[in-house]
Amino acid sequence: MRRGLFISLEGGEGAGKSTQLKRLADRLKPRGEVVVTREPGGSPGAEAIRALLVTGAVDRWSPISETLLMYAARRDHIERTIEPALARGAIVLCDRFFDSTRAYQGAGGSAPAALIAALERDVVGDVRPDLTLILDMPVETGLARAAARGEGEARFEAKGLAFHQRLRAAFLAIAEAEPARCVLIDADAGIDEVEARIWRAVEARLA
Ligand SMILES: Nc1ncnc2c1ncn2[C@@H]1O[C@H](COP(=O)(O)OP(=O)(O)O)[C@@H](O)[C@H]1O
Ligand SMILES: [Mg+2]
Repeated sequence: MRRGLFISLEGGEGAGKSTQLKRLADRLKPRGEVVVTREPGGSPGAEAIRALLVTGAVDRWSPISETLLMYAARRDHIERTIEPALARGAIVLCDRFFDSTRAYQGAGGSAPAALIAALERDVVGDVRPDLTLILDMPVETGLARAAARGEGEARFEAKGLAFHQRLRAAFLAIAEAEPARCVLIDADAGIDEVEARIWRAVEARLA
């Protein structure tokens, strides 16, 4: 039986997801248990799969192989982390979820939309986010931020500007197609201002 609240944060590289997730967690903590997690990853098995996805040669996986790896990780994450937390009544904050597969492997990598839709239906089932915050900003700005951050997990960052433009368009299309679940946040602003925009969206949903 599900009692908690499931919020995902989405957007391109360097959009500020990880930064804002921490701030949102701090704001929500007075309301009860908050579980901060991420994809790919979020459980020991899924973190092991993450290493295969975010490091190494940019063309390491075909779009379909990459989709299946993402979904193997996602299933483990759902079973071991997300569902138990929601059953406890926790608020789950997830840095990326299935919209990133639609965008990165679907729109970006051209994995078949029918495959991705089938995986969403049969692997995610009803463990869908109650609210998805989509952080939007110009691709160049986000990539510059991500490059300045410098991490050893840059496989997706290396995919080129056209790829990242397709991602942005895909996230905008998702926000437009599913307004009941998704809120588009203009993330091209200072950290405090973006935090305030996110909090307004979350408070409206909590009310
Ligand atoms: N609103 C902002 N303005 C300027 N820099 C930011 C902003 N939000 C985040 N950053 C910085 O940009 C980089 C990428 O942010 P991060 O939260 O890691 O993005 P993401 O998780 O979406 O890839 C980090 O170095 C972070 O400190
Ligand atoms: Mg991040």
